[in-house]
Amino acid sequence: MLIARFDAAELEQRWSAHNYDPLPVTLVAGEGAWVTGDDGTRYLDLLSSYSALNFGHRHPRLVAAAHAQLDRLTLTSRAFHNDQLGPFCAELAELVGMDGVLPANTGAEAVETAIKAARRWAYERRGVPSERATVIVADGNFHGRTTTIVGFSSDPDARRGFGPFTPGFVRVPFGDVDAVAAEVNGDTAAVLVEPVQGEAGVIVPPEGYLRGLRRLCDERGVLLVLDEIQSGLGRTGRTLACDHEGIRPDVLLLGKALGGGIVPLSAVVARRDVLDVFTPGSHGSTFGGNPLACAIGREVIALLRTGEPQRQAASLGRVLREELAGFGPRLAGAVRTAGLWAGVDLAGPLPPARVACEALLSRRVLVKDTHHRTLRIAPPFVVTAGELRWAVGEIRAVLEELCP
Ligand SMILES: Cc1ncc(COP(=O)(O)O)c(C=O)c1O
Repeated sequence: MLIARFDAAELEQRWSAHNYDPLPVTLVAGEGAWVTGDDGTRYLDLLSSYSALNFGHRHPRLVAAAHAQLDRLTLTSRAFHNDQLGPFCAELAELVGMDGVLPANTGAEAVETAIKAARRWAYERRGVPSERATVIVADGNFHGRTTTIVGFSSDPDARRGFGPFTPGFVRVPFGDVDAVAAEVNGDTAAVLVEPVQGEAGVIVPPEGYLRGLRRLCDERGVLLVLDEIQSGLGRTGRTLACDHEGIRPDVLLLGKALGGGIVPLSAVVARRDVLDVFTPGSHGSTFGGNPLACAIGREVIALLRTGEPQRQAASLGRVLREELAGFGPRLAGAVRTAGLWAGVDLAGPLPPARVACEALLSRRVLVKDTHHRTLRIAPPFVVTAGELRWAVGEIRAVLEELCP
């Protein structure tokens, strides 16, 4: 057979669209914090599929939940009830202390759903004149790849050639409550931000930012929508990043790790009056709320309910911070951390971050660059402190080597 003469990466290059630029490694297996390449080499995974693998590869409890559900019922569509959706919604709402859940698949779909909910809520509940609703977003945001979402991105690569874009978005600097306040008016439906901007390079806003937004949104009667698709579910050492400021949004977006690294599963978790703007026929998704995803999501919630993954992320996060503190200005222009999550901006004279990632590959450490100059580090919570110290030591050694 012709296909057998080519390896998987060559076939991908020849037959798939080139919308990614993967590192030159083909993975065939994974367990915990480690993955195996097609030549048998084992690598420590410091990316966790952009935080979709917070609990590691093939977590035994998540795999068992998936197997059990695979053997019973996988998909029903929402034309019928299934026995997993209701418990999943109840357990998720209870975990985060909110009223209810609209299940979806990808993160972008959850964001789109939140935008629709906020607009309809603004027309029906806030009295915003028809077709005028606006959503305030932040510079440097990353909320997904649909045309509406990239339309309010500040990243030219994400936008170029994809217009015309959906109107109704206002962008302000990230981390600045006053800048948001200056834009809130009678047409505003919602403020939509990430508590920590992951794709932008793990940008942590000033202390009090989320509390300030909460206060502002309460005073002005607009919705606070927090996209915790990457920051949520333990990554920052708490269940949600907004737990660090003791607030709850009106609409919370979750995804990635919610599906246990096994299936796509996202959710809009919201106040009841916001969820209630949807009526039969006004919104939906064939796969949203499917019993396989919900069964896995319920096990993810059960893991988080113990508090153990969050504690792990917090204590490993301290190790990560300590290890990175030794980098100094010769290697790193800036280091930012939030729990078990770090962005390391390479010092000016160093080559692009991609070069460092390729060098780290040969040292069996998987790290990915973001925005050319930043290494984003997000290990699974099952990594050990020893493995983490070793891997950060490898990063440091590579940066030392690359120093001119
Ligand atoms: C904060 C945030 N929101 C939304 C998304 C989009 O999620 P998905 O790729 O599942 O559509 C991402 C993906 O990286 C994200 O980091």
